Amino acid sequence: MEMQTVGADRYAVVGNPVTHSLSPQIHRAFAQQTQQLVDYSAIEIATGDFELQLWELQQQGLKGVNVTVPFKRQAWEICDQRSPRADDAGAVNTLVFTEDGNIEGDNTDGVGLTRDLLDNHHVLIKHRKILILGAGGAVRGVLAPLLALQPENITIANRTLEKAEVLAEEFPNSGNMQACSFGDLGVDKYDLIINATAASLDNEVPPIPEDILGINSVCYDLMYNIHSLTAFVNWAQRCGASRAIDGLGMLVEQAAESFFIWRGVRVETPEVIAALRH
Ligand code: ATR
Repeated sequence: MEMQTVGADRYAVVGNPVTHSLSPQIHRAFAQQTQQLVDYSAIEIATGDFELQLWELQQQGLKGVNVTVPFKRQAWEICDQRSPRADDAGAVNTLVFTEDGNIEGDNTDGVGLTRDLLDNHHVLIKHRKILILGAGGAVRGVLAPLLALQPENITIANRTLEKAEVLAEEFPNSGNMQACSFGDLGVDKYDLIINATAASLDNEVPPIPEDILGINSVCYDLMYNIHSLTAFVNWAQRCGASRAIDGLGMLVEQAAESFFIWRGVRVETPEVIAALRH
């Protein structure tokens, strides 16, 4: 049992597994920086009855939780109210337990990615050609915020073509989205290539040709690894990408947006990202 700060408002990240989550460390850094009395822990919950387990946390007086794998869709389902960006994503990573007993859901993953790209790495999106590898929940969560930045087009490449097609068609007014298989890649070059495949979990890179890289191409991996390069960052560096960035900044930025939702305070993220790297 972790020590709890007396009088602190309690939050947690819930998931399964969740023991290796960096979120407690990140939120404690935010709390310290902004002098907020906040207690944030990692709670592993069973994959069974998500709603009941959340209700128990609500009863224990938590003010909110972050939700991670594999519960983001279930979190979306149980909300009393949801933000537009939660509905765009079809998933929720931030829950607020309100004073009157309601559960409000939001999704900060997409804004986490775009803030990291724009503010921390100064990557241009507007009028640029974007390739996304993968078509799962993570991609669904970032498409609307990326489209809002007006790229020239977004191509979604996936092992299972149908899933990429469904996603590409799902967003209305998105005439600038295409779907393809990995085998179709190699004709066009892309300014920004985002890896969102679960191949990363096995330290693998999907079968993509080097030809998708131009001289100024930036590669971004939603996966992060503090102690070594991710497989995709490694691939990008080896193939001569102009920059290869992992998703640690996105993790901190999505956390910062959750912290803002709960506490109404903006944090300075660069120092937190730097501290995690070192
Ligand atoms: P997440 O929430 O991380 O997006 P997900 O919804 O399970 O997880 O989606 C996983 C994504 O990684 C999918 O696009 C999946 O491809 P399929 O749709 O064909 O299953 C992709 N993926 C998983 N393992 C992969 C591998 N070894 N190579 C390439 N893509 C892989």
